[in-house]
Amino acid sequence: MMSRSVTRMARSMINHIGRRNFSTLRPVTGNEAGIGVVTGAAGFLHGNSMKGSEKAVAHWVRYFSVMSSGNASTMALRNKEQNDQDDQKINQSGGATGRNATATDSGNNNKRIVSYWGIQSPKVTKEDGTPWRWNCFMPWETYKADLSIDLKKHHAPVTLLDKVAYWTVKALRFPTDLFFQKRYGCRAMMLETVAAVPGMVGGMLLHCKSLRKFEQSGGWIKALLEEAENERMHLMTFMEIAKPKWYERALVFAVQGIFFNAYFVTYLLSPKLAHRIVGYLEEEAIHSYTEFLKELDKGNIENVSAPAIAIDYWRLPEDSTLKDVVMVVRADEAHHRDVNHFASDIHYQGQELKDCPAPLGYH
Ligand SMILES: [Fe+2]
Ligand SMILES: [Fe+2]
Repeated sequence: MMSRSVTRMARSMINHIGRRNFSTLRPVTGNEAGIGVVTGAAGFLHGNSMKGSEKAVAHWVRYFSVMSSGNASTMALRNKEQNDQDDQKINQSGGATGRNATATDSGNNNKRIVSYWGIQSPKVTKEDGTPWRWNCFMPWETYKADLSIDLKKHHAPVTLLDKVAYWTVKALRFPTDLFFQKRYGCRAMMLETVAAVPGMVGGMLLHCKSLRKFEQSGGWIKALLEEAENERMHLMTFMEIAKPKWYERALVFAVQGIFFNAYFVTYLLSPKLAHRIVGYLEEEAIHSYTEFLKELDKGNIENVSAPAIAIDYWRLPEDSTLKDVVMVVRADEAHHRDVNHFASDIHYQGQELKDCPAPLGYH
């Protein structure tokens, strides 16, 4: 008697739910599994008599159907929004081409993307309204180098670790001088392939540490990744001036393989030493660019027009020359020197980088 009454109640509830939630059900599509399950469950209960646990099942169906009807409406809204966006993209690109083709489900007007190729980039313009000509960096990433920065600052190596860092860099300079001699354009380009590695390695390791320890980085991840990107832009600039020969490309391949791994291990073992080494490398870079400028002044290297990429990246005047470019690059190196010696000093003070806010905002 009790069981029959429960069954009647459950049927009544399901009929009620069915009218409210299933009357407008459309054919089930592949990504609407929730609705599919509800339809199957309702059909099962309609077609079979309820047993002892039917009351619990009825509760489950009601709960699930309410959730699903919410999900269905959310999905439908999302589908509509997606379709509207797709329509806009197709209209912008002049219709569905081979790249942007969409398929239409018959009956429910659902469009499915068959290729995500062709996400539109926003149109970017310069301050004067002319189109921005670079994809590799945007106007808001450009800056004016600080030419007033002290170029003569030198960190005196006092501790054993500092001396190790200092003499490691001095030792590396010997084969570099031997290989490049006075070919400063080529030397700059090749050294930038190395200089762009430490920031990326340090930033990556700090990023992983932040994830591992559930802690903030104090802005140092961003600062080091910015340094890496800035060094890479130095390379992109000098690439326009000096074209590497095949054996120089091969050398970069080998050096990167060795240096990346060596710096990675050094940073894991002693970030204090790693940042000090980079600080001294940057001091050497300042020296190299000063020599470069001397050769330009003597006329031994032609002071050609500045590459377009450099004019936009450093916001230089249109009539800038190679000398102007070398000066802003040298100022960047002085900034990297200060950042890395500072990072090393933080470790010397027994603190972690996250404890001292990173000097962000220069680049
Ligand atoms: Fe550089
Ligand atoms: Fe640098």
